[in-house]
Amino acid sequence: MTVTRGKLIAFEGVDGSGKSTQLQLLAAALRARGIDVVTTREPTDGEHGRRIREMARSGERVAPETELDWFVADRREHVDEVIAPALAAGQVVLTDRYYLSSVAYQGARGLPWQDILASSEAAFPLPDLAILVEVSPERGLERVEARGGTAEPVFEEIAFQRAVAEVFAALPCPYLVRVSGDGSPEEVHRRIFEIVDARL
Ligand code: TYD
Repeated sequence: MTVTRGKLIAFEGVDGSGKSTQLQLLAAALRARGIDVVTTREPTDGEHGRRIREMARSGERVAPETELDWFVADRREHVDEVIAPALAAGQVVLTDRYYLSSVAYQGARGLPWQDILASSEAAFPLPDLAILVEVSPERGLERVEARGGTAEPVFEEIAFQRAVAEVFAALPCPYLVRVSGDGSPEEVHRRIFEIVDARL
C-alpha cells in the first residue's frame, strides 16, 4: 500500500454501529504500515460541536433546519482547520462521521436529503472513501444501551434510527461502500481493511 497524497476516509453508520471502534482499528493497522494517519470526528469539540452535544443530551429539539445549520457550521470549521490542512500535508484522514451523517440524520428529520447531499458535495471535499458500517438500528440501539454511554434521546429513538438507516440505504454515492457490521470487531475490521487496501 503506497499513499502518495492525502486521502479522506469517512466512517458512517447508525448509532451503535461500531464505526468508532472500526476507525481506531483501521488507524492502528495503517500506522503499523508506516502511514501518517490523523483521526478526527464530528460533531467536533469546537464551539458548534459543543452546542450540538448539549442539545442532544438535553433531549431538547430544535428545528431541523437549525440543526442542519449547526452541523454545517461545525463541518466548515472542521474542514478548514483540520481536514483540508491534513490532506494538503499528504496525511490520511479518518473521520468518525462526515456530511453523509447530515444527509441521513437531518434527512430523517424530514429535510429533503437529496438537497443536503447536493449542497454538501458542492461545499466540502468529497471523501475518497465513505465506509458505511451496517447493523440493524435495533442492534445499534442495544449496543448504545449496553455501553451505558451518554443517552442522547434526541437522536437515539428506534423509529428515528430506522429512518436514518433508510436514508443510508438509499444513498447513491459512488465513493460509498457498505460493510456488514455483524461479527466480532476483528471480523469487521478485516472486511474494512481489505477494501481500504484495495483502494489506497
Ligand atoms: P456520535 O457519532 O454518536 O457522537 P458521540 O457518540 O461521540 O456523541 O454523534 C452524535 C449524534 O449526532 C449522532 O446521533 C448523529 C448525530 N449527527 C447528526 O444528526 N448530523 C450530523 O451531521 C452529524 C455529524 C451527527
